[in-house]
Amino acid sequence: MCGIVGYIGPKQAIPILISGLEKLEYRGYDSAGVAMISKGSFDVFRAEGKLQNLKNVLKEEGRLEQSPSEKGGALNIGIGHTRWATHGRPSETNAHPHVAEKICVVHNGIIENYAALRDRLEAQGCVFQSETDTEIAAHLINSHLSTTAGGDLLLAVRAAVDEFVGSYAIVVASLDEPERLVIARNATPVIIGLSEGEVFVASDIPAVLEHTKRFQVMEDGEIADVRIDKVSLEADGKPVTREPITVKWDPITAEKGGYRHFMLKEIHEQPHVVTETFRGRIKQEEGGVFLDDVNLSDEELKHIKRVCIVACGTAWHAALVTKFYIEELAKIPVEVDYGSEFRYRTPLVDKDTLFIVVSQSGETADTLGSLNLARELGAKTLAICNVVGSTIARRAENVLYTHAGPEISVASTKAFSTQLTAGYLLALRIAAARGVLSEEKGKQCIEDLMSLPSMISEALKHSRQIERIAKKYGKSDGFLYLGRGLLYPIALEGALKLKEISYIHAEGYPAGEMKHGPIALINEDLPVVVVFGRDGVNYEKAMSNLIEVESRGGRIIAVTDHETSELKNLAWETIALGDVPPLLMPMVFSIPLQLLAYHVAVYRGTDVDQPRNLAKSVTVE
Ligand code: AGP
Repeated sequence: MCGIVGYIGPKQAIPILISGLEKLEYRGYDSAGVAMISKGSFDVFRAEGKLQNLKNVLKEEGRLEQSPSEKGGALNIGIGHTRWATHGRPSETNAHPHVAEKICVVHNGIIENYAALRDRLEAQGCVFQSETDTEIAAHLINSHLSTTAGGDLLLAVRAAVDEFVGSYAIVVASLDEPERLVIARNATPVIIGLSEGEVFVASDIPAVLEHTKRFQVMEDGEIADVRIDKVSLEADGKPVTREPITVKWDPITAEKGGYRHFMLKEIHEQPHVVTETFRGRIKQEEGGVFLDDVNLSDEELKHIKRVCIVACGTAWHAALVTKFYIEELAKIPVEVDYGSEFRYRTPLVDKDTLFIVVSQSGETADTLGSLNLARELGAKTLAICNVVGSTIARRAENVLYTHAGPEISVASTKAFSTQLTAGYLLALRIAAARGVLSEEKGKQCIEDLMSLPSMISEALKHSRQIERIAKKYGKSDGFLYLGRGLLYPIALEGALKLKEISYIHAEGYPAGEMKHGPIALINEDLPVVVVFGRDGVNYEKAMSNLIEVESRGGRIIAVTDHETSELKNLAWETIALGDVPPLLMPMVFSIPLQLLAYHVAVYRGTDVDQPRNLAKSVTVE
């Protein structure tokens, strides 16, 4: 989830690019860069780390002080980028913009077939400086520019993106046409800001909202030809006409993409980021997965005797679901532990153990401490992590990155669904290596996974219903969450979400445990959220739990797949999500619980994005 800015106009480009990148700061990043065309060549400035480092470089070069003065005559052109690494570690060399002779590129997204393209381009004599998929795009466009495109930048970009597989928002400048930018968009946002005598490009409206409120929106599969006096769109080589929009957002609202809170924005990003997490890692035909950043061979995976997964908080809930996936699909015993517990026991971990840590930030002290201990004990280690180059990502021998992009809200939502997706992919990988996953089952699992983003999108459509439920029950001073099997961790996660942002006490429990104590709590002032689906034995048992609760006056909020007539008589509220493959229920059924926590917190007026006492990353023990 990188940030992109671009400018063509009479003003100095650098102040505009830097100001735009600063507005994208909330997206987080690990490196940044800008490039301008000056005197027939590209001026490129890049720096690892925070944007301030890039500003320091520009200052040292005397390029920052310039005010964006009106400069008559020649137009200035520039592009800028903040990187959230997906391919290639954070470094100046891997920072964008990337140049290949006459072409300069910034890119947001994942080009899945980058390796094959790189091999072909290297065979043609291209020399690469970085480990990124973006540099491949620069070389490919440059190659087309002097061959198939006859020197036309638009044709060169069109020819190149026709070869891409994956997601991209790519902005391209050419030395031959210093008053033109060409943009291609697929599954990654980019917009064009329109103003008199100048034009702006950005991945998000906030980056350029100070300059204009008029925007030309692009859709997937479109290419934009951008000049100060004309912006034209095409798709499949045919012109596209679309009226520009005018936004009325203030800058703060704009950073949240028009959502009231980052948490709500991130909840709604889940279809996209789940797609980004499995994109490029599934083989639909064979029904398999390939995890290029997991260097464990089939032989090594075959010899694993047990798996141990360690994490904290929401990540620990994702670990519990991953346990189910690995035991169900790969038939290996899995134990799950809190980071703060594992490292103070005498854990029986050795070279035959696959030790997995799950962490969004990659900096959680208790998780990191457990990883260090596991490495000392000789286990094979793997991190499921969202931050490239984080301490945990660097300390583990293998990393399976989630591609959730920066998660700003303290309450984890999109990171959670991508952790579940990564756990599912990993279980399929291990199962295939151990020869216990039939081709038919593998294909079915991949087919189900590909339908997951749309199922999440459908679940998000219940937000208004859930907001009503939140207002009806938001005054309660306690909630009980019940789930079974794969949905027991989701009950735990729903309770955690509610308590951490609304400050209401909430407890998650295995539904079957009700009769061993919690049933004493049931009364009409204690809403009971029951999460269950038609996944076999658990459904029947869940219905009997509902009867236990209802017969004692409990107010049931049911999160399930279908509302049956029996359920109508038992539940006070029912959120019916439709058919969901049992293994994917955790990703889909957690959506209403995230929304319930969010709307209750808004109703109670707490600080949704920065709840009291909490930190986004707990780097202390
Ligand atoms: C989740 O909503 C919380 N913010 C918290 O439990 C979090 O999941 C936990 O601190 C683990 O963080 P990590 O994933 O960055 O390691």
